Amino acid sequence: MRIYSAIQPTGCITIGNYIGAIKNWLALQDDNECIFSIANQHALTVRQDPQEFRARTLSFFAQFLACGLDPEKSVLYVQSHVHQHSELQWILSCMTYIGELDRMTQFKDKSRKNEDNINAGLFTYPVLMAADILLYKADMVPVGKDQKQHLELARDIAVRFNNRYGETFVVPEPYIAKQGAKITSLQNPLEKMSKSDKDQNATVSIIDPPDVIMRKFKRAVTDSDNRIVFSEDKPGISNLLSIYSAFTGETIEEAEKTFEGKGYGDFKLAVGSAVADALLPVQKKYEEYLSDKAELERIMKAGAEKASYLAERTLQKVKKKVGFIVS
Ligand code: TYM
Repeated sequence: MRIYSAIQPTGCITIGNYIGAIKNWLALQDDNECIFSIANQHALTVRQDPQEFRARTLSFFAQFLACGLDPEKSVLYVQSHVHQHSELQWILSCMTYIGELDRMTQFKDKSRKNEDNINAGLFTYPVLMAADILLYKADMVPVGKDQKQHLELARDIAVRFNNRYGETFVVPEPYIAKQGAKITSLQNPLEKMSKSDKDQNATVSIIDPPDVIMRKFKRAVTDSDNRIVFSEDKPGISNLLSIYSAFTGETIEEAEKTFEGKGYGDFKLAVGSAVADALLPVQKKYEEYLSDKAELERIMKAGAEKASYLAERTLQKVKKKVGFIVS
């Protein structure tokens, strides 16, 4: 199967992104044709300092590699290196309705958080996301729960285009894991862990040093009834159980047994250590990749070439179908 997914280089890669997305990508890359991107054009919907933005894109790419995404198995690239994304976006935006975009909950949410910068890009962002996916004829798109609505729109656009112009796009299926698809904030377990959260204690970055990881878990907000069980009315504890399970491989039930009769203090320390231990090798590799910028850029360029080749094939087809004169 052809798999496509991406991550925006804003804030830091959190354990939410890791559990909800990257961990699933790693499991898929051995037996599928995978394409993963750093969606830096999407990130421009929020104001970015150019120097920091460039550095963060490089850092995210190094984190992809450090997590185990392998350029020999998967196509790994940076979105802005493949101009076909914006070209297809324009065509698709001419067949997407304002009413559809207006229903996107993430647009509403982000507009509320960036009242001084509600730009057109923020509004048309889901069309760019549809272009990302449809350019590569992806069968499946592994994402966290928060991207479900965007993906449904991408499917609708694909079906609409196919109906109007004949079979062109593959209609992509979402792949949302049953567990870990919504890791929540350590400070407000009713909200998703967001990489751009201003509260440093709310998120854990995959490159946070072990002592910082431990401190953040120690401060995690829970409830006061000292039972370590997964339940809807215990969002903080349930979130910690999901994180623990994702990083140790124990099921939730096994983890509940492991911590039966233990207090929240011990549990938080155990979750913190499980995360810090699992991330240590990733962090070592990250430092290695980041120290060789030339090699990073070489891998990036090679990925962009492979992606462009695939993207151009689809774009040419689309241009012909809509009636552009194609040389
Ligand atoms: P982004 O950058 O916000 O997040 C990257 C991936 O991480 C998942 N995720 C989470 N999963 C579980 N718990 C969380 N707290 C959590 N937070 C984030 C997201 O669902 C996502 O899978 N628009 C996308 C990036 C994108 C994309 C695409 C994705 C651009 N083009 C094409 C798929 C296909 C975004 O902003 O993800």
